[in-house]
Amino acid sequence: MTLPAAASSEAGVPVVTLDPHGGDHHGEAARLRELGPVVRIQLPGDVMAWSVTDHALLTEMIADPRFSKDWRNWNAILRGEISDGWPLVGMVKVTNMVTADGQEHRRLRKLVTQTFTPRRVQELRPRIERIVTELLDALPSHADADGSVDLRRHFAHPVPMRVICELFGVPEHEQPRLKELMDNIFRSDLGPAEVMASQVEQYQLLARVVDNCRRDPGPDLTSALIAAREEDPDALSEEELVGTLLLMLAAGQETTLGLITNAVRALLTHPEQRAVAERGDETVWANVVEETLRWDAPIGNFPFRYPLEDVEIAGVRIPKGEAIMAPYSAVGRDRAQHGQTADEFDITREQRKHLAFSHGPHFCLGAPLARLEAALAIPAVFKRYPELTLAVDPAELIPVPSLFSNSSATLPVRLEA
Ligand code: HEM
Repeated sequence: MTLPAAASSEAGVPVVTLDPHGGDHHGEAARLRELGPVVRIQLPGDVMAWSVTDHALLTEMIADPRFSKDWRNWNAILRGEISDGWPLVGMVKVTNMVTADGQEHRRLRKLVTQTFTPRRVQELRPRIERIVTELLDALPSHADADGSVDLRRHFAHPVPMRVICELFGVPEHEQPRLKELMDNIFRSDLGPAEVMASQVEQYQLLARVVDNCRRDPGPDLTSALIAAREEDPDALSEEELVGTLLLMLAAGQETTLGLITNAVRALLTHPEQRAVAERGDETVWANVVEETLRWDAPIGNFPFRYPLEDVEIAGVRIPKGEAIMAPYSAVGRDRAQHGQTADEFDITREQRKHLAFSHGPHFCLGAPLARLEAALAIPAVFKRYPELTLAVDPAELIPVPSLFSNSSATLPVRLEA
């Protein structure tokens, strides 16, 4: 494949300007890979960062304690160059485990893992099955005048949304606005006024959820976090409590929503793979999930790691305090890791380790829940609506306007032939 040349180069390192509208996510990812293992990237607002596009090097880097996740180690922030209205600020300047290192990270992560246990996730199975069935039953009632239904809006999104909101005690009437506010975190195309207003409203909404659970504690995990704080105020500050809730609610829906959407889209556009899946058992459907994660990573890029000292990766020097992006969708198609057919969606391939859930100390804490939701939701759609087809040409699907979320903004389908 011939790829367009890099926009420019800086001290011999190619520079790629990332599209905040996510216009050609995989084309961009291929271009990054093609240009080398370490590429300079330009983000909205002309903010410069790095991207490590090689699976093996990225695996090493994200587990290396010389790379901090704490934005307080980013030179550009320290120099005052990142305003509170920067469109990516909601993914970067947050106070929770994603932006904590070492002991602080372990403290914040343990507060969640001690109640959000594998057993608690498995106990959600019957509830998820009920939610899936209810939503599938209701799909015909959401048909537009032309008979098509947006499967992303009416199925892929409410499955994880309901599960995570119930788990964290978010009242039903708060959920529609919460969804819009969470979408804004992942968007890369908003103006400064919208970014700042959205952040204020997010924190107000989450503070209401915390207040409710404080007044009327339940079996939910927000009440458990509040109890941990009441028992020992040093265990978690109020800011960290709200920051953790924000992280769980944002990470708990946008990501799995992308996984379900991308898997259904992949099967609808690869009929031979769909036939294999429809003939298969649970193991085959688990392969659908893993292959979608690898081939079409729902979190295509994730910000940032900051070297605590000058480092050299693949012969490229990255100074202390610069920002490095993890390009999870680019490495998902790295041929050195996934073979010569890495660009193909093939649910029968022998799965090798992918990084869609990251690796190392920040490995996705919600991976078991995401896998369970996907394992229940994706086959259920095809079993319930065996004649399911895409209602538009795949080329017409509009991507989510994000550097981070990799999915399409709608998934119009026809339930019957
Ligand atoms: C398909 C679905 C999902 C994908 C692709 C995904 C992806 C990721 C990735 C790539 C990271 C690490 C980012 C990094 O540091 O480089 C991460 C972290 C995290 N994810 Fe997920 N995630 C998914 C679902 C979920 C769910 C359902 C939850 C919550 C219930 C969740 C909660 C978290 C949390 C709390 C972290 C931070 C872990 C830490 O910093 O120690 N994720 N996820």
